[in-house]
Amino acid sequence: MCGIVGYVGPRLATPLLLEGLKRLEYRGYDSAGIAIMNGNGVETRKAPGKISELEALMTASPVHGTLGIAHTRWATHGAPNFVNAHPQLDCEERIAVVHNGIIENGSALRQALEDLGHTFRSDTDTEVLSHLIEETYDGNLEEAVIEALSKVEGTYGIAVVSTDDPNKIVAARKGSPLLVGLGEGEYFIASDVSAILAHTRQVIYLDDGDLAVLDRDGYRIIDMNASPLTKDVASIDWDLDMIERGGFPHFMLKEIFEQPDTVKNTMRGRLLPETGTAKLGGLNMTSEELLSFDNILITACGTSWHSALIGEFLIEDLARSPVEVEYASEMRYRNPIITEKTLCIVISQSGETADTLAAMREAQRRGARALGIVNVVGSTIARESDGGIYIHAGPEIGVASTKAFSSQVTALALFALKLARLRGLTELEGKHIVEAMQKLPDQIAEILETAPAIEEIAEQFKDVTNFLYLGRGYNFPAALEGALKLKEISYIHAEGYPAAEMKHGPIALIDENMPVVFIAPHDSVFDKIVSNIHEVKARSGCVIALTSRSEPALAGKLDYEIRIPETIDMFTPILASVPLQLLAYYIAVKRGANVDQPRNLAKSVTVE
Ligand code: F6R
Repeated sequence: MCGIVGYVGPRLATPLLLEGLKRLEYRGYDSAGIAIMNGNGVETRKAPGKISELEALMTASPVHGTLGIAHTRWATHGAPNFVNAHPQLDCEERIAVVHNGIIENGSALRQALEDLGHTFRSDTDTEVLSHLIEETYDGNLEEAVIEALSKVEGTYGIAVVSTDDPNKIVAARKGSPLLVGLGEGEYFIASDVSAILAHTRQVIYLDDGDLAVLDRDGYRIIDMNASPLTKDVASIDWDLDMIERGGFPHFMLKEIFEQPDTVKNTMRGRLLPETGTAKLGGLNMTSEELLSFDNILITACGTSWHSALIGEFLIEDLARSPVEVEYASEMRYRNPIITEKTLCIVISQSGETADTLAAMREAQRRGARALGIVNVVGSTIARESDGGIYIHAGPEIGVASTKAFSSQVTALALFALKLARLRGLTELEGKHIVEAMQKLPDQIAEILETAPAIEEIAEQFKDVTNFLYLGRGYNFPAALEGALKLKEISYIHAEGYPAAEMKHGPIALIDENMPVVFIAPHDSVFDKIVSNIHEVKARSGCVIALTSRSEPALAGKLDYEIRIPETIDMFTPILASVPLQLLAYYIAVKRGANVDQPRNLAKSVTVE
C-alpha cells in the first residue's frame, strides 16, 4: 500500500529517496513526500499525485542533506491531498513521521492531544504519532518513539526524524513490513526491498515489536523495552533488472511475457520424472505428517484466491483430500472448523496482505499447521508460516497480478502431486502429470506469440461497458481471474461465472452488446460448454472463445477465437490465463488506462 524509504550516509539523500519512491510507487500512488535534515532542522516537501509531481517540486525547490525519510501514500484516513501527504509534523515542526498502516485509536488520541494544546493540520491518523512523539520527547528520540507507540493501537511501519536528534532515523514495525538495508558506511530503511536494491542486497527484516535506530556510525535493533536485539542479515538474490521494465512499455506486459521462465522457475528442481512426483523440501514435513491431516483449508485474497480455487480442484482431484477455500477476510470473522488436524495453505504473492496474514495467524492459533505459497522471500507470511513453497516468480511490480498467478497454480499442482502420490496416485499417473507440467513453459511461449492477434481483438472491444467470462471445471476460476484482470485495469465491468450458472440469471444480460469470453479447451467438459456457447449465440451475444483445436461443433458460433495448446484438464487454467491477461492488458492500454497503476488500487494490501 503505502511505501517508506529512508537514508543516512555520506551521499545526498534527495536523489536516493526519490529513486526509492519511484520503485515503491507501484505500492500506492496518490501523494508523496520527503523530509530531509538540511543542517538546520527538518525540511519537508510534499505533493499530491504521482512521484513525478514531487520530483518536479524538488527540482524547483531543492533540499540538501544526507539524512532523510520519504513516503508514497495510498489514502486510508483523509483525502489524497497536500496536507494529508506524509511526512506529518508535530506542532513545532521539529519531528517528521512517515507511516504505513492504521492507528485504530487515532481519534481518541487526537482528542487527548488536542486537549493538551496540540494543533493538528491534517485528517490523517499518522499526525497523531508526530504529536505523541513531541509530547513524550525528552532528549532521546528512540525513547520518545517507544513511549508514543506504547499508547497506540493498530498497525504501523514508521520512520521518524527530529531536528533535536539530527543524525538519527528511528523506525518501528508492528503489522506493516519494514527492513533495514546495510550499505558501505550508509544505512537505509524501507518497506520493500525494491526501494533500496540498487544500493544494497544486505538486509535485516524487522519483526513486529522491533525498532531500528540508524545513524552515521551504524545501526541498532532494539525491542520496545529498548533492549538490544541480534538479528540475522539476509542476502537478497533479486537483480536490479528484475525490478526494471527491460524495454517493455509496462511492467504488466513484461511480467506476462516472463511466464515461460517464471513457471519453469517454480518447477525447477522440484519435479521427479522418474517416480512421477514432486520434491518440496520447504514444507518442513515428513510424509507421515503430510498424511496426518483430516482436511485442508486454503485461504487468500483476490487473484491468489482464484489460485486457491484451482488448488482445491487439484488437491481433491488428485489426492482425494477434502479441501475448503476461504476468503481470508471472511475466514477471520466467522468460526471455521480448524483443528490441529487441519492443514492451512496460505497463498500470497506479497506475503504481506493484512487479511491473509491475520487469517493464517488465526488458523495457527487454533492449532493448524500453516504452509505459505509465497513469492516475496522474507515476507511476513513466509517467515511466520510453518513451511511452504516459494514460487520464485521474481518481483511482481505491475499491480495486476499475472506471473504470480501462473506460478501459484504451478506450486499448488506440485503440492497436489506430491500429496496424491502419498495417497495412492499411481506412478504412471504421476509421470503423465509430470510430463504435462514440463511442457507448460513452451506452451506459454507459444501463446505469447499470438499477442498481436489478441491485440487486434482488443481493438474491437475497447469501447464496451460490460464483459462476461464463462468457464467450467478448472476453468471456472480462470473465468473469475480473467474478469478480475479486465475490470481492475480497464475499469470495464466484468463478471466471471461457471458457464452453466449463466442460465440462472446472467443470461438476462445477453444481447448483441455483451461480449462473452468462453474458456473452451478440449477438456472433459467441452461438450457442456459448447451448449453454453450455443445459448449465448441464440441470444445474439458476441462470443470470444479460447479453444485448443478446431471444433466442428463450434463452426459459425465464434465471433473471435484464440487458440491455446492442448494440455491435461488440470493445467488448462494456467494456459488460459495468459491470453486473458493479454486481452485485458491491450484493452486497458487502448482505453488509455495506466495499467501498472490502476486507480484506487495498491499492490500489497497491508490494511484490513
Ligand atoms: C489482482 C491482485 C490482487 C491480489 C490480492 C492478494 O490482480 O493483484 O487481487 O491478488 O490483493 O495479494 P497477495 O497475493 O499479495 O496476498
